[in-house]
Amino acid sequence: MSNSSNQFIKNTILKLLGAIGSDKEIKKYIEKFSSPEQRFAVIKVGGSVIENDLENLISSLVFLNQVGLKPVILHGAGPMLSANLEKNKIDFSFINGQRVTSTEVRDVAHSVFLETNQKVVEALKTQGANAKGLISDVFECTIEDPNLGYVGAIQSVNDKLINDVLESDSIPVIAPIGFQNNEMLNINADIATVELVKAINPYKAIFLSDIGGIFNSREQLIPNINLALEYDEFMQEEWLHSGMKLKLQQIKSLLDHLPKTASVSITKPINLPKELFTDSGSGTLIKHGYSVLQHQLPNKDVQEQFTNIIEASFKGKLVDNFFDNADDLNIFMTSCKRATIAISNEFAVPYMDKFGVIPEAKGEGLGAGIWHEMRKAYPQVFWRSRPNNPINNFYTSICDGCQKQEEWHIFWIGISDFGALKGCIENAINKPRSVI
Ligand code: ARG
Repeated sequence: MSNSSNQFIKNTILKLLGAIGSDKEIKKYIEKFSSPEQRFAVIKVGGSVIENDLENLISSLVFLNQVGLKPVILHGAGPMLSANLEKNKIDFSFINGQRVTSTEVRDVAHSVFLETNQKVVEALKTQGANAKGLISDVFECTIEDPNLGYVGAIQSVNDKLINDVLESDSIPVIAPIGFQNNEMLNINADIATVELVKAINPYKAIFLSDIGGIFNSREQLIPNINLALEYDEFMQEEWLHSGMKLKLQQIKSLLDHLPKTASVSITKPINLPKELFTDSGSGTLIKHGYSVLQHQLPNKDVQEQFTNIIEASFKGKLVDNFFDNADDLNIFMTSCKRATIAISNEFAVPYMDKFGVIPEAKGEGLGAGIWHEMRKAYPQVFWRSRPNNPINNFYTSICDGCQKQEEWHIFWIGISDFGALKGCIENAINKPRSVI
């Protein structure tokens, strides 16, 4: 490897490590993603990312290569293809997001995809990562619909070809071009990604885009989406534009075909290492998710499960008298029994007495899912937390207000009456400890 490549890699790793979390987190994820039982990831790279952000893309992929992780890459080239067709005055149109493909359009598409594919492969090789372009022999297709012209509907994916590239320690870089006998067919890159993921069955499917996630109506990034709880709500939201709804629909169908441990991340190239190697990530993580049940007490099984989660999460012992006023407690728990919330209705305003996620499940979005369900049931709630608790960033981002005292930070949502608030704060401060 040349000196300039070495320097590039060194700079890359320094640049990326700076944006990352603790050694422990990074190690946990490297181990998880290196498991021999499941392929690591399929990464879809949008055409505009290659056009506008190639350097960060290559940095992130080279970084993965350096830590021994080989993803399967599938790239688009939509913006380059449109620009090329316009330049050559070739008319084109779309039906339901699919490009109507005449012979002329197809020929240009082929050369644009070839060029884009080579660009990525060459850039990876130049920076010391082995890569191999796979163009036009991965997806066996039939003609989708005569009105769309040369557009392929995928019948089978040649996963052997992809696995051979991975086994030879190289990164497969795939273009969304299919074939039927000797005829080449154009395929929408998102559709190709979904079929590829189903065939490879990886831990993660990653979509790299320019904007790097799904944003809410206030333009804030949504860090977690739990489809079991939130899919229907999202599909009804007016602010989520139709392109994103389509994407979410495709992601749901993709996750329906994968084991429950699989996930989809939407992020941008510069944030990819942080998304992959930290619990909090940087992008939108979508999981099939678990349902959340509400339990009335007393209930022996629920109390036992609750105790296990809280003790693992706080690394302490739940006080023996925690369930003495069980009638006043409402327990939320995920169906996988790894995250829980207790709300106490003892005081005039509901108090969140405990919120716990077992350490092994951190980063899966369970906390966000259970929080979402609790909030639907409790528009008004207050709680407290130790000043050094790492969850305080999350609490600060979602609370309506917070009072910081030496021993406790007190947070609240939905309480606007000053007198009531004062009562809540006093109540929170004077509560005895529940984990020792
Ligand atoms: N690093 C973990 C993963 O890739 C968790 C990522 C969390 N990301 C998020 N946007 N909430 O699976």
